[in-house]
Amino acid sequence: MIRVLVLNGPNLNLLGTREPEIYGHTTLAEIDEALRLRGAELGLAVECLQSNHEGVLIDRLQQRDFDWAIVNAAGLTHTSVSLRDALLAVGRPFVEVHLSDPSRREPFRQVNFLHDIADAAIVGRGAAGYAEALEIVASQASGLAASEKADVAHPAGSADPSQTHPDPGAG
Ligand code: DQA
Repeated sequence: MIRVLVLNGPNLNLLGTREPEIYGHTTLAEIDEALRLRGAELGLAVECLQSNHEGVLIDRLQQRDFDWAIVNAAGLTHTSVSLRDALLAVGRPFVEVHLSDPSRREPFRQVNFLHDIADAAIVGRGAAGYAEALEIVASQASGLAASEKADVAHPAGSADPSQTHPDPGAG
């Protein structure tokens, strides 16, 4: 069975009540449960971990006991060389998820230490973005051809990748 690790970073434990006008009303527990259920349907073993602590996320990655990751690093996206290094070190493919579209928010959110090493990114889709990321994992893990992978990674209607993947060195 394909093992999928879903990592959520700082403050995402507060989803549902945290700035709902930006992040919506769905709680992280609801997101995690939906991912586990859909994962079971897709034949994926889904494990979810949220932490407010960078080192906890890095320690979990270093266990290397997963095949794919879905990562919403939250604020660490914009600051953490160490989380980037950990993702590179473990060498597992991952889908970057953000509920909002950081590239359309404050300038400091346009620095992104993860986007260029992610296999795909889903941004600005709210809680649904996690489910979309899981579908990408299922498709890619089942061995789609390279051309099909590109279509799945940037489905029709998603934002322009040049918008969702700003150059971290460009600002
Ligand atoms: C976020 C976007 C980040 O900029 C922010 O720091 C978060 C949440 C998102 O899911 O939209 O905590 O990752």
